[in-house]
Amino acid sequence: MGRFRREAGPVRPVGAATYIGPILRTPEAEQTMHRTEFISTGMYVPERVVTNHELEGYMDTSDEWIRQRSGIEERRWAAEGEGGSDMAKIATERALEAAGMEASELDCLIVATLSPDHFFPGTGVFLQRKLGVTDIPCLDIRNQCTGFLYGLEVADAFIQTGKYRRVLLVGTEVHSSGIVLSTDGRDTAVLFGDGAAVAILGPTEDPDRGVLAVRTHADGRHAEKLWAPAPACVNKPFVTSEMIDAGLTRPHMEGRDVFKHAVTKMPAALIEVLEVAGHTVQELDMVIPHQANMRIAQAVAKGLGIPDDKMYINIQRYGNTTAASIPIALHECIEEGGIRRGDLVGFTAFGSGFTWGGAVVRW
Ligand code: UT7
Repeated sequence: MGRFRREAGPVRPVGAATYIGPILRTPEAEQTMHRTEFISTGMYVPERVVTNHELEGYMDTSDEWIRQRSGIEERRWAAEGEGGSDMAKIATERALEAAGMEASELDCLIVATLSPDHFFPGTGVFLQRKLGVTDIPCLDIRNQCTGFLYGLEVADAFIQTGKYRRVLLVGTEVHSSGIVLSTDGRDTAVLFGDGAAVAILGPTEDPDRGVLAVRTHADGRHAEKLWAPAPACVNKPFVTSEMIDAGLTRPHMEGRDVFKHAVTKMPAALIEVLEVAGHTVQELDMVIPHQANMRIAQAVAKGLGIPDDKMYINIQRYGNTTAASIPIALHECIEEGGIRRGDLVGFTAFGSGFTWGGAVVRW
């Protein structure tokens, strides 16, 4: 592409400029533009632990079926009245403490969720209010399991351009109020869990560190393969008791088809960002995949030749927390010492939409 090279990795001027991700880097701009680093992370999951055995009491399922098909052993359910913004508030306070920052130092909130506190306004403004902050932008992102990576791509662009210096990126979900605890809803009820996690992002002075590449994708031809048909503003009114009785407000999923696409798109997304960043799978120190299904993560690892100890999996404890799953896994992996400064860390996600994406970060 002429004088501009669409490539991340160490900043390399090509002619007068180097095109890195979405940003045009001129020599002048390189004086002021910085990569995005993860300053700190924080997570919160509700206290209530729901085991597979407990679910056996609500529907025709079994601990064995759930473990074998998904790897899930337990998940968390939010308490009555506990919303995504409440969980995100606690996760944010933990991340702020880890960073030695005050909420007032945040410049922008980006909240990824498919289970907002309310139909509108977005969860971001409720979180902002609970954090005691005013007058900073709150952007809600609706990209389901890929939401955190979509949010990372937006945050990265904001930070690279210098528009914002401290971006709070949140993934938070309350699924327990949307699933149906009966045999009719068992295909999804056993998979999803509640939780929240955040990352505080900002510019790094070190040109070799930070987000090297992030790419997101979507294919709306598959929108109804994992969706909640109602509430829906295409209907008047947008929800009725008949829709609820017919199960239209619960998630509907063509599980096998979703699985089939996930095991091809997730590795492809990771390879794409590695190529953009000028790295290989073998160089990865850790991969944080979206926690949809243990078998999906294992298939991705096997297909790419990634050893088990470099593919972080915690789905056993939390189930699928959609937009919160990557930041929860990232936070726990860091806490366990699985990611250290200088490591090359890969991210990959796939989910409803279909949407998918990847990122690679020099920690
Ligand atoms: O977050 C991103 C999006 N989600 C995913 O990535 C999920 C992708 N899909 C999957 O992970 C898997 O397809 C599932 C775990 C959802 C299901 O595993 P599967 O091996 O594809 O099972 P299946 O849907 O083909 O169902 C097999 C059987 C069916 O019974 P019959 O027709 O063989 O008699 C289901 O009715 O298992 C039955 N079944 C259950 N049985 C016990 C479905 N759900 C349950 C359940 N407990 N909870």
